[in-house]
Amino acid sequence: MKNNREKLLALFTESDGAYLSGQEIADSLGCSRTAVWKQMEALRKEGFEIEAVRNRGYRLSATAEQYTKDALLLGLETKFIGQHIEIHESVSSTQIIAHQQIDTSPEGTVIVADEQTAGKGRLLRPWNSKKGEGIWMSVILKPQIPIQKVPQFTFIASLAITEAIENITKLEPRIKWPNDIYIGKRKICGVLTEMQAEAETIHAVIIGMGINVNQQVFPEEIKDKASSLKLELGESISRKALLQEILASLEKYYELFLDKGFAPIKLLWETKAIPFGEKLTASTTKGKIYGKVQGISDEGVLLLQDNLGEVHSIYSADILLDNEK
Ligand code: BTN
Repeated sequence: MKNNREKLLALFTESDGAYLSGQEIADSLGCSRTAVWKQMEALRKEGFEIEAVRNRGYRLSATAEQYTKDALLLGLETKFIGQHIEIHESVSSTQIIAHQQIDTSPEGTVIVADEQTAGKGRLLRPWNSKKGEGIWMSVILKPQIPIQKVPQFTFIASLAITEAIENITKLEPRIKWPNDIYIGKRKICGVLTEMQAEAETIHAVIIGMGINVNQQVFPEEIKDKASSLKLELGESISRKALLQEILASLEKYYELFLDKGFAPIKLLWETKAIPFGEKLTASTTKGKIYGKVQGISDEGVLLLQDNLGEVHSIYSADILLDNEK
């Protein structure tokens, strides 16, 4: 026969991250709400992180949830993306692992790590990927498309991640061209699209995604620029639920892209992007251009109008919005 402690832990596990009201728990345990409260305190003393929110109730912190291959596969509603999934406790970078195993990996293979010791960002920057705090993953796709279309995968991925974050958290993230996802003035996610190709033949596109989920603090050098979903929402987020939602959304938009091309992706991406008309500085290899966003071209190139009215096509740049200065 289970005691109250065991019954309570079982209730939390079954609720899969949903809040349970004090009354619901009291009814299930057959005790008073005061006894429930005492039991919560006892669990907290044991080290369980329990979140209590007024009018919603209690739940085990999502940071305590299982982040294993079996847990990620259970409830994953995709046909192929993530159906072959690897989860590593600690790796240098999921991008590096993905590159090493292209030949043996089926399309849609996902490499996840709980921690990266040498996470890679764009423009050779390091990507902060501490243990347990975020979603660090790389997805291997094998589309048969011309090489020049590969950068469009950044748009597919940022659209998918933004939609998934909205669905899970009800927050309103916005995409800063081409691949950064922001909430307010702070970056919460980055996408790194790489490929393996020979002459004109693509072997694979590797989409690396880094999502700041449950960080409470960031290192000094990025603390004013970065945020996490937990900091924005005020409660911890289930990495498992978010990861599954991202993969489902990614598969939907990848299939749309293969079927109908970039045009519908572009339209949807624009609804989630930092609005046109915004002023920014683009730092390119040829120098800095300051101007107003006119939009993106049919290929995903940023169109920036400078103060003299000239429109520049920006293929790759570091973008600084006026409100980030
Ligand atoms: C950026 O600079 O904004 C892109 C960051 C991409 C980080 C992710 S985390 C998973 C994958 N593995 C890496 O080493 N980088 C990408």
